[in-house]
Amino acid sequence: MSNPIPVNEPLLDGNEKKYLSECIDTGWISSEGPFVKKFEAQFAACVGRKYGIAVINGSMALDAAIAALNIGIGDEVILPTFTIISCAAAIVRAGAVPVVVDCESDHWNMDVSLIEAKITSRTRAIMVVHIYGLPVDMKPVLALAAKYNLQIVEDAAEMHGQKYQDRPCGSFGDISTFSFYPNKHITTGEGGMLVTDDPQLAERCRSLRNLCFQAHQRFVHEELGWNLRMSNLQAALGVAQLERLDEFVARKRHMGQRYTELLADIPGLQLPVPRTDYAENIYWVYGLVLQDEVPFDAAAAMKHLNQQQIGTRPFFWPMHEQPVWRKMKLFAGESYPVAEKIARRGFYIPSGIALSEQQIERVASTIREMMQ
Ligand SMILES: Cc1ncc(COP(=O)(O)O)c(C=O)c1O
Repeated sequence: MSNPIPVNEPLLDGNEKKYLSECIDTGWISSEGPFVKKFEAQFAACVGRKYGIAVINGSMALDAAIAALNIGIGDEVILPTFTIISCAAAIVRAGAVPVVVDCESDHWNMDVSLIEAKITSRTRAIMVVHIYGLPVDMKPVLALAAKYNLQIVEDAAEMHGQKYQDRPCGSFGDISTFSFYPNKHITTGEGGMLVTDDPQLAERCRSLRNLCFQAHQRFVHEELGWNLRMSNLQAALGVAQLERLDEFVARKRHMGQRYTELLADIPGLQLPVPRTDYAENIYWVYGLVLQDEVPFDAAAAMKHLNQQQIGTRPFFWPMHEQPVWRKMKLFAGESYPVAEKIARRGFYIPSGIALSEQQIERVASTIREMMQ
């Protein structure tokens, strides 16, 4: 039996060990250590923002973003139905209402032409979520936000190093957020970041991250926050990983192109779009959608590949079909056919930065056999 190929594996062979040793040697392991500020400043600069606020993960970055923007009870936020639960969870936990739109069948991002019809007098924000490797078409979203005076929360969790036209993803939101989970282009083990250009919003995010302690009376609280602080150990990893972002992005693009060369002639497979008018695919993950004529679904394909020791993950399950939201009477009777289809027929194959050329070839040939 050949060796398993994991769906994701990080590369930690740069300065990670050196910087971690520095934390241990100096005793700086908490969030007070110097790597946190360094990582925040370097990461914010890398996405063209003034302020970075490092937190414990990309999910809680979204909670903090919604809270910092004072989005709360009765407010509505428009987002894609095809996304991770974290996006809608941040909205619901704030007491606001998630309002979803379908995605596009070719690149799986929210269909921005559907947003305007969902805007009401209660709409406060649009939460854009860049999915799998290509950004959302931001120009029409920015125009809608200006026309209706809406805020933008940009979930760029998967988009380190990606650009929309010539602007970095993560530079579009009133607040934008990132994740540093190990399947991301750069990782801190667990971790996330909020970025913004607004000094007051940055200050509010910092306060929310740190239990809303007050400078003059530490243990007296005017507001509720969370402890979302990133440790110096995590930030040390982040600084080391950030040094290699360009290299990692180039490698991911190469891996995506290689998969496409090897899979393009197989009938019945929809592959990721290599580019749109506004971006080159960064292939955060390499997704496949089984076309209608294929007599099995994504679950069966993933089971087969798993038996061949090839790791996969299903596509996101749409928000409007989530039992947890249905129990809360959200999205009753709503249907979004594109997201419903790709959730059932889509999955992604090994895409981690540590994947070798031989592994890519083995994955592709196993998929070819499966499709015959
Ligand atoms: C689009 C998107 N948003 C948010 C998250 C959540 O990030 P984390 O796993 O760091 O909580 C993810 C995680 O993969 C994601 O893909």
